[in-house]
Amino acid sequence: MTVPRKIIIDTDPGQDDAAAIMLALGSPAEVHVLGITAVAGNVPLALTERNVRIICELCARPDIKVFAGADRPLSRSLVTAEHVHGKTGLDGPELTEPTMPLQPGHAVDFIIETLLSEAPGTVTLCTLGALTNIALALTKAPEIASRVRELVMMGGGFFEGGNITPAAEFNIYVDPQAADIVFKSGIPIVMMPLDVTHRVLTHKARVEKIKAIRSPAAVAMAEMLEFFERFDIEKYGSDGGPLHDPTVIAYLLRPDLFKGRDCNVEIETKSELTMGMTVVDWWRVTGRNPNARVMREVDADGFFELLTERLARL
Ligand code: RIB
Ligand code: CA
Repeated sequence: MTVPRKIIIDTDPGQDDAAAIMLALGSPAEVHVLGITAVAGNVPLALTERNVRIICELCARPDIKVFAGADRPLSRSLVTAEHVHGKTGLDGPELTEPTMPLQPGHAVDFIIETLLSEAPGTVTLCTLGALTNIALALTKAPEIASRVRELVMMGGGFFEGGNITPAAEFNIYVDPQAADIVFKSGIPIVMMPLDVTHRVLTHKARVEKIKAIRSPAAVAMAEMLEFFERFDIEKYGSDGGPLHDPTVIAYLLRPDLFKGRDCNVEIETKSELTMGMTVVDWWRVTGRNPNARVMREVDADGFFELLTERLARL
C-alpha cells in the first residue's frame, strides 16, 4: 500500500483547472491534497479563489483548505482570459456561490509553512496557473526550494509555439519574471507544455463519457468542457479543445502516460516580441544544464480513461 503523495495545488480556475482539481480529489489513495492556493490568471483572484471553493463543494470536499494568493503578477499588469473561460472563469454549468470558508492568511505563507513543517522532500507543488505564488514564496523563504519534492506544472510550449502570443503560453506569459525565478530555483521541475496538452483534446465522445457518469460533479464538468472548448475549436479547427491542467495530476497518478526528456529551459523576460517564451534546449545545443523534465508525448486515450474513471468516483 503506497502512502498518498502530499500535494499543494496552485491554480487559477478555469474549467481545465477544475478538471485537474477533480482528478486529484477523485484519487485520494494516491494524492493527499494538503491545500489549494488560488492565483490571479484566467480571471481575477476574487473569482479564482471563489471558483476553487465551488469546485471543492462540487466534489463534496468542503474540508479542503483554500487560500487566496497573489492578485497580480510580480511586476507586469495582470492579463486575464475571459475570452476562453467566460466572465466567471467557470462558465458553462449553473453554479451556486460557495459556502465553505476561504482560509485566513495568504497562500504564500501557507506554501512556506507547509514546506517547512512537512518532512523535506515529501511535498509536491502542482501549478496550473501563473507561477506568482511560488516565486513569492521562494523569494520570502529561499530555504523552501530544497524541501520541495517536485514541481509539476502546466506551462510553456516549444515545438507547439504559444497560445496567448505566437511565442508564449498563457501561464508563463502572465508572469514571466515569476517563471524565471522558479526555473532558476533548482527545484526538480516536470513541465507539461502545449506540446503535450494540445494532444489531449476534448473530443465529443470523451465529453459524452464524462456526462454519462451523471453525478453532479461529472455533469458540471462536462458542461464546463462544452463551454471551454468552443474557443479552441474555433481557433484551431480541432475536434475539441486542449485539456491542459489535468495532465499535471495525471502525471502523478500515471507517469507512464507521458514521454519527455530532461532539458534546459530559460524564460524570455526582456523582449516584448517573445516575452514569456519558454526556450527549451530540446536538442541540447547550448550546453546549459537541464533544469526541467519537459514532456512532449502523451497517451491521450489513457489520459481520458483515467480522468473519466476518477471523476466517476466523486
Ligand atoms: O495556457 C493554458 C493554461 O492557461 C491553463 O492552465 C489554463 O487554465 C490557463 O491557466
Ligand atoms: Ca490554469
